[in-house]
Amino acid sequence: MSDPKVNELMEKVVSLCKRRGFIFPSSEIYGGINGFWDYGPLGAELKRNVKELWWHSMTRHREDVVGLEATIIMHPQIWRASGHVDTFSDPMSDCLLTRKRFRSDQIEPQSGTAYHYTGAQDAVSGKCVDEPYAVLLPAGKPPESARKIANQFYQARGLGQVELQGERAEKVENSQRFNPDNGSLLTEPRPFNLMFKTYVGPVPDEDNVAYLRPETAQAIFVQFKNVLDSSRQKMPFGIAQIGKAFRNEVTPRNFTFRSREFEQMELEFFIKPDEVVEALCGTVAKPAGPGHPGEPRPDWGWQLWHQYWVEERIRFYGEIGLPRESLEEYWQKPEELAHYARATVDLLFKFPFGTQELEGIAARSDFDLSQHERFSGKSQAVFDEELRTAWAKLAEERRQALWQRYHDARHQYLTKAGVPAQQAEQDAREDADGLARGQYIPHVIEPSAGVDRLILGLLTHAYGEVTTTDAKGKTATEVVLRFHPKVAPIKVGVFPLLKNKPELVAKAREVFGLLRSEMAVFYDEAGSIGRRYARQDEAGTPFCVTIDFDTLGETPELKDTVTIRYRDDGRQERLPIAGLKAHLLPLVR
Ligand code: GAP
Repeated sequence: MSDPKVNELMEKVVSLCKRRGFIFPSSEIYGGINGFWDYGPLGAELKRNVKELWWHSMTRHREDVVGLEATIIMHPQIWRASGHVDTFSDPMSDCLLTRKRFRSDQIEPQSGTAYHYTGAQDAVSGKCVDEPYAVLLPAGKPPESARKIANQFYQARGLGQVELQGERAEKVENSQRFNPDNGSLLTEPRPFNLMFKTYVGPVPDEDNVAYLRPETAQAIFVQFKNVLDSSRQKMPFGIAQIGKAFRNEVTPRNFTFRSREFEQMELEFFIKPDEVVEALCGTVAKPAGPGHPGEPRPDWGWQLWHQYWVEERIRFYGEIGLPRESLEEYWQKPEELAHYARATVDLLFKFPFGTQELEGIAARSDFDLSQHERFSGKSQAVFDEELRTAWAKLAEERRQALWQRYHDARHQYLTKAGVPAQQAEQDAREDADGLARGQYIPHVIEPSAGVDRLILGLLTHAYGEVTTTDAKGKTATEVVLRFHPKVAPIKVGVFPLLKNKPELVAKAREVFGLLRSEMAVFYDEAGSIGRRYARQDEAGTPFCVTIDFDTLGETPELKDTVTIRYRDDGRQERLPIAGLKAHLLPLVR
């Protein structure tokens, strides 16, 4: 068995996705629309399975997480509070010649000779264009090439017969200021907000601006109080949501990896601040070392909860077919962290185009709820009777120390948020005084995963090729997608040995009917059994069941049995139809 070389893999996966109906370009008959993708019949099943598995693992298998399904368009003030209106932007540069747009920080750095021009004049009309321009050429290329490009630039500005002015050559190292395709100068980088804007109601003016959500997380924060009040959850607990997110990415790329419309699976897990844990338990447990810290305990602070969720997420990926070895943990350095984050781990996956982020797990302090408290004017603090009782029993010295730590953290947040000094001091004191009344603002651990990136990871990880040689020495290469049975879009292929034997067909339809109520099953009677296996291998189907003459009783002891063939090792075994469902269900769920 061989696997295609890394540089070919993406092309093969993209082509397979189209051919077999996993993923299509959106609006393809109109030429497509960059950054938007549709999931075809197999892709829709695969995606549904992934989301169901995440949802089950997060909510139904846990007592401390509940779900939410919020709207995509929300009050625009939410995006001011979250910081998205002011800071959710990428630097963008345009090619001065072709207008092609680049994300400035992702331009491949280039070296060579830059030819600068101060402007140009029309040799016939005398018209002048004073706009400076430059072209970067790789070392060794003659200046004529730069002049040709510069001519085009000035012609596009209304000159006919161009006379370039003020040519100056300059050596350039690792510059991101030039278009890597043609060497033309780019515009200065400028921030480009990634949120899609729209208008609510019939009047398209600034008062009615709204945004398509760029992440699902904020809906969870703004519904935190409603969920807490209605679900009988107690701290610590989480709220999970799966849904669409939209980002007007400057350069969508790598197939679905960076799309403009995509889906997220986000958990906001609300925890007690360390000062509260210490007041309740006497101490905050410290991580004993790397790895899974085990079952949650009341004395866990943010560090152990963060470590717990990193490990839980790695475990989840292992259970759906992405083993730990296919992932990398990247702990962001202090200087890379968002100002409110205490730690962030990016779970990276080895995509064919590079090792890139699949999910981020961030310890976000109490920033999000605090922001919504300030912007909405509605308290986001929780009340904890146990804390009130424990606080009253603390020794004065300990109480003072915890009060001070909580005060300092709140003061730091308020100051960074721009609250004037006197007000920040007053608010921080009030917040710290709240501890005595059993009140605090929860902190948050956020595992945030992209559905589409995960689908792409699963597809590239599952992709393999098998080369076979027949009796005449003819070789053929076939694709096999080795999906974990839990995510596979089709769980079982059901085949009658021959399609022109009504008894075989009837029995096969019976088996098909028996299984399809419980799992996705594909009935296929066309072509040889080998061809049918190959078609299912390419779709990633883990099991195929064949109904033959023994099923009908030709060999009496095999009556009502079928052959099941396992995709990954080609193993075949005989099983009674009566036991088929019970055999398959634990493998596919
Ligand atoms: N609430 C936190 C948040 O949204 P993020 O790192 O911006 O954090 C989380 O996004 C995840 O969403 C990423 O790890 C990635 O899997 C996915 N994601 C983000 N932008 C994406 C895009 N343009 N296309 C596809 N997936 C994307």
